[in-house]
Amino acid sequence: VEQPTEEENPVLVEFEDGIAWVILNRPDKRNAMSPALNKRMIQVLDELETDPRCKVLVLTGAGDSFTAGMDLKLFFRDAEQAHTPERLIQIRRDFTQWAQRRLQGYMKPTIAMVNGWCFGGGLTPLVCCDLAIASEDAQFGVSEINWGIIPGGNVTRALAATMCRRDALYYIMTGIPFNGRRAEQVGLINEAVRKEQLRERTIELAKILMQKNPSVLRNAKQAFINGGDMPWDVAEDYLSAKNFMSMMQDPEKGRAQGLKQFLDDKSIKPGLQGYKR
Ligand code: ACO
Repeated sequence: VEQPTEEENPVLVEFEDGIAWVILNRPDKRNAMSPALNKRMIQVLDELETDPRCKVLVLTGAGDSFTAGMDLKLFFRDAEQAHTPERLIQIRRDFTQWAQRRLQGYMKPTIAMVNGWCFGGGLTPLVCCDLAIASEDAQFGVSEINWGIIPGGNVTRALAATMCRRDALYYIMTGIPFNGRRAEQVGLINEAVRKEQLRERTIELAKILMQKNPSVLRNAKQAFINGGDMPWDVAEDYLSAKNFMSMMQDPEKGRAQGLKQFLDDKSIKPGLQGYKR
């Protein structure tokens, strides 16, 4: 039987104990993101959003790479030779659609698990996942300058949302690669761990998220992403409305349970643990 090629199956999904492992699957090309991969990622994210087997989504890569960024052949050179300007805009939009819009607005918690190379365009989905863990020897790089373009695909915007100005400009302007430890120091990821611990620590974090109220988690993260750039008074109003909306939407009425368990039953201390669901 003929096996599907990487281009026919550019994304793998595996389910395990509430986690959907979404695996960029072009290991021979260091999981570089092709137009077909980007198109498939939109479908995968849409499908998992309503799939009860996915409580937390983990984005990672097959083999020794997270992703080597955009596929310089298929996404840039070949596409530019083959397509009209309108089609090219669609191809770029497919990337933004999953790597930025879908991930930032994702209804479920997301964790990027950086298992190896992570360059250029790969930094956008990395930042747009809620949390990020990397192997300490994973190599990152804002490598656009090394082949003569500026970091588009919203990489620059994603860096502005995570790194400080000095660090961002240093890596944007030098293209010097840096490891997981450094990525942690500059705020690009939450933590770097030894390679052998990467999966275990990711699962541990996913389990913490799974214990929380999914409806409140969804609203809390959206409030942070949307509210962070607002003027204070507008943010205050927005957050009040969002809080009210969150309570109305919550099927398990978590707030009432939390208050009861603390104030009446005295069975939890919310400073130290979550309410029992
Ligand atoms: N686009 C297209 N093909 C790629 C990419 C990429 N981004 N990255 C790797 N590949 C391909 C290589 O061309 C090679 O293909 P081949 O086997 O058909 O010749 C294969 O993947 C393996 O690549 P090697 O370079 O041989 O692998 P190695 O492990 O030695 O190096 C590394 C890995 C460091 C990731 C290197 O491939 C590299 O520098 N890639 C480009 C990284 C980059 O700058 N990406 C673009 C960022 S900018 C943006 O995303 C807009």
